[in-house]
Amino acid sequence: MAKIIRGFKDTFGKQAENLTKLENCARKVFARYGVEELRIPTVELKELFIKSTGDTTDIVQKEMYAFEDAGSRNIALRPEGTPGVVRAYIENGFAQNNPLKSFFYIGNMFRAERPQAGRYREFEQIGVECFGNASPAQDAQTILMLKDIIESLGIKNYKVKINSLGCAECRPAFRQELINYFSASKDQLCDKCKDRLERNPLRVLDCKIDGPKFTNVPKQKLCPSCQEHFDEVINLLKGKIDFEIDPMLVRGLDYYTKTVFEFVAGTNAQNAIAGGGRYDTLVKSMGGPACPAIGWALGAQRVASVLEEQNAQEEKNTRENKFFVISMDKTCNQTAFNLMQNLRQAGFITLGGIFDKNIKAQMKQADKNNCRWALIIGTTEVEKGSVVLKDLTNAEQKEFLQSEIISVLKKVQNEKN
Ligand code: HAM
Repeated sequence: MAKIIRGFKDTFGKQAENLTKLENCARKVFARYGVEELRIPTVELKELFIKSTGDTTDIVQKEMYAFEDAGSRNIALRPEGTPGVVRAYIENGFAQNNPLKSFFYIGNMFRAERPQAGRYREFEQIGVECFGNASPAQDAQTILMLKDIIESLGIKNYKVKINSLGCAECRPAFRQELINYFSASKDQLCDKCKDRLERNPLRVLDCKIDGPKFTNVPKQKLCPSCQEHFDEVINLLKGKIDFEIDPMLVRGLDYYTKTVFEFVAGTNAQNAIAGGGRYDTLVKSMGGPACPAIGWALGAQRVASVLEEQNAQEEKNTRENKFFVISMDKTCNQTAFNLMQNLRQAGFITLGGIFDKNIKAQMKQADKNNCRWALIIGTTEVEKGSVVLKDLTNAEQKEFLQSEIISVLKKVQNEKN
């Protein structure tokens, strides 16, 4: 049988529906902020990513799908959208003629990472890149744009982390301070961080293994201009979005300056649903004029999964106070039947009686009928004159005497979900 490649994924049903819903929400929000669509190629010269994403990053060092094409060109499948958008911004003359310009993109990215839940080798990003505006107002509105998309989709429980990485003035000192600090306890670092220490010491801060190990890590001291910028961003955001300032947030790409941010949600280990930041030096370093810029990208599959998780939870939480009686064995049918009728006489909405089906099939029906409660009678319960009450919202179960079950159910029926 033909098989899909590891780390790649077919998408259908609810996930496909949620991805389309997300794309539609995003398009509406982008229009409200005056952001135009840009479609860029899936492949670019490998060099583009080395120069922009950065040759010290995991993405470029280990995760790129790079190959030589028939014309001996070194090509890579894009691992992220920003480099291609910056190239297009310069190459199509916007940087010179119409520098104040914001673009959004929706497209698949490729990273040969170790696959796990929420981490795929091909995934969709919806992203935005805003050029030409150095004002903190741009940082704030770019972050709020992301919030608007997430919230218009109906996602409620997410967290926002913000930090400032400083600029060419204040970052080098911090970098050196970190190298000195971590070098003193190099033997305690994981292999990845030992390797990263000289090249990209900031990444040690957000390493899942080493990050939590170190207390009293030196904090970035921003130069007056970066501090003023950051304070202003924070002031503009206050009251419009809940966020926390996280000095450990460094992001995994090389081009960031000043403001960086991440949105996290869901129960997967891979819980970063979106991330971004300012990159005020990238346009120039890629051959354009000096031009401030800021952007973000969200992982569409991760956002869609959080939505699915949340909807499933809400469906669970809105189960109706209905009781489904289940018999586990032929010899229990009479007792289960009597219980079912007693409950109805006592005024409870009671379903069940499909005793010719096995327990799994009976449970499935309870689920299908959105019952909150299952009442289960097996041979032990018949012997003991008891019944098991199972809460289908959390699978907790407890045994009660049949003689007291009516009064128990009266109580549980009034409990909140
Ligand atoms: P990033 O943090 O590398 O940033 O990726 C953005 C988002 O893409 C992540 O927060 C995550 O939701 C999703 N993502 C990343 N890797 C995977 C994966 N293997 N599987 C599923 N989802 C994934 C960037 O890519 C920057 N270009 C963002 C940006 C734009 N910064 C400025 N402008």
